Amino acid sequence: MKRASKKAHSTRIYRGTPRNIALLARALQRGEPVAVPTETVYGLAGNALSPAACAAIFRAKGRPANDPLIVHIHDLAQLDQLAHRNPAVEKLARAFWPGPLTLVLPKKDIVPDLATSGLPSVAIRMPAHPVFRALLKKCALPLVAPSANPFGYISPTCAGHVRDSLSGKIRHILNGGDCAIGVESTIVDLRDPRCPVILRPGKIGADEIARVLRVRVAAQKKRRAPATRAELAPGMLSRHYSPRTPVVLHARLTPAIIASLPADEAALPLFSSEKLTPENVFPLSEKRNLQEAARNLFAALRALDSSKKRWKKIHAELAPAGVAAKDRALAAAINDRLTRAAAKA
Ligand code: TXA
Ligand code: MG
Repeated sequence: MKRASKKAHSTRIYRGTPRNIALLARALQRGEPVAVPTETVYGLAGNALSPAACAAIFRAKGRPANDPLIVHIHDLAQLDQLAHRNPAVEKLARAFWPGPLTLVLPKKDIVPDLATSGLPSVAIRMPAHPVFRALLKKCALPLVAPSANPFGYISPTCAGHVRDSLSGKIRHILNGGDCAIGVESTIVDLRDPRCPVILRPGKIGADEIARVLRVRVAAQKKRRAPATRAELAPGMLSRHYSPRTPVVLHARLTPAIIASLPADEAALPLFSSEKLTPENVFPLSEKRNLQEAARNLFAALRALDSSKKRWKKIHAELAPAGVAAKDRALAAAINDRLTRAAAKA
């Protein structure tokens, strides 16, 4: 970075026109951070090959240096520049990329230690959002991009969320509309292709990955405790995605429970129901659709957290166990994020 200015930056939101994409590609090549749309959540992108650009991302987010970044690529040739492949990579790439899947692989020396917090592995994802893909292609660089929120706060799912919490800290936000999925990518540790481990649940589930690879896929919980703190995916930190307002979890938010809540506490049921009309009830999906609920989750938490009503608590409903097979992974992802949002420390 030329200038570690203490002055606040003026922050601008750009539409995804070819001219703006070319301008922001040049900003990335100069080492400046650019907030970008992805199909999961907005990211704060920077040149993955530049330690200074990576440092600027950590600084803007207030992110601790022991929390490694995901590197986003445009094509598989870039993956070979960054990481050592194994045969499982190609199978998963064919099935799920571009898309909401991140693979942890042994890293090559070109990836700065700062990007991986000194780990010998690197997390790599090929995102699907067309506007971000256009930017990746134009700048011709792999881009680190953590979610574009201050560390520990709720991930952004539209350009306005990024402006609300990073205004003055970054100059550029590329607008690509509302995120279609709304929760972050599934992270899989694929260093041992015979024994993939899910480090963070997302839209793509263990079953789907197992079907493609024809091996068992483990969840992080069933693994031995990590040897060092650095081995943890900080998505594993219990408190994360947290609003300032305390979150209380419910296995079911029945009309009776909602009716018993004080007027200054908000209810966040998954689905709307005719029986629910009070002013403190904010269903995540009108259509009783879990994908819609996931898409709206972070926006709803942000809106309640910054509401003039100053809610004393947010009562959130966990996704039930018995959802349709196609929604099972998303249900696990929603419950993972809600559990972290409710964690005290
Ligand atoms: O959907 C997503 O993945 C979004 C969008 C912007 O692509 N990105 C995202 O990044 O969620 P972030 O930084 O908020 O979360 C990245 C997670 C962290 O929990 C981090 O610990 C984990 O990825 N991670 C990164 N590198 C890792 C590695 N080498 N080994 C294990 N976990 C890693
Ligand atoms: Mg994040």
